[in-house]
Amino acid sequence: MVQEIAVRKSIQSIQTMKRDGAAIAMLTAYDYTSAQIADRAGAPMLLVGDSLGMVVLGFDSTLPVRLDDMVRHAGAVVRGSQSALIVADLPFLTYADEAEAIRAAARLMQEAGVQALKLEGGQSIAPIVGRLVDLGVPVMGHLGYTPQSTLQIGVRVQAKDDAGAERLIADALALEAAGAFAIVLELIPAALAAEVTERLTIPTIGIGAGPHCDGQVQVWHDILGLYGDKTPKHAKRFGEIGQAIEAAVKDYVGQVSDRTFPPAAKSAR
Ligand code: KIV
Repeated sequence: MVQEIAVRKSIQSIQTMKRDGAAIAMLTAYDYTSAQIADRAGAPMLLVGDSLGMVVLGFDSTLPVRLDDMVRHAGAVVRGSQSALIVADLPFLTYADEAEAIRAAARLMQEAGVQALKLEGGQSIAPIVGRLVDLGVPVMGHLGYTPQSTLQIGVRVQAKDDAGAERLIADALALEAAGAFAIVLELIPAALAAEVTERLTIPTIGIGAGPHCDGQVQVWHDILGLYGDKTPKHAKRFGEIGQAIEAAVKDYVGQVSDRTFPPAAKSAR
């Protein structure tokens, strides 16, 4: 008997989408169940983002997220998915030098089984990106608002002036030259995202960066209405699942409290 094995998307197939003009829908996932749903829904790329620090672990930034957290959650996402390319964030301070980045990459790729890693930063981390790529690690860049630098830059639109825009373009070109296969552009002006997208041969994936990127990435909890008032402005709610869950749980609590669940056993004859 020949067993069909689902083949995951490759970095080449993601890059082909840019060449074909097909928009890339990326979404975060943090566990087995959500990965199964996102995979069935056809998302070509899932990001095990260190945003898990906020939306799953309840911290107020990504900074407390540890490599162990990422390995645990990334492994669950890999086990829950079959077709999507799985990208995981290297967390804060795990890629300060090449040796550390290689050790962190080994854990996420060999223990968790992800296919690619995302690193925040531009020209200053290009040598580390280049080394990882040389060793066979697919790397996605992340420019603009980079959450691991939130204490320095604040949550705000980046690269609004000419100097900032020039720096961001130079960063993007440096990452492409170092071998990054795609770049996330977060919270930058739409016109700048359009220019970067035009100048790069690799795909840009935007979040709060307008409609002209090659793809978009959103946070699972934001598009499903699971993060309440904390949903950022650039997110669109495609469902109100948080409310639906609350109603279902309320129903359960009510039925247990008034003893309508479980139903009375049928009397034995
Ligand atoms: O951690 C994350 O979810 C991210 C996306 C917002 C791009 O980096």
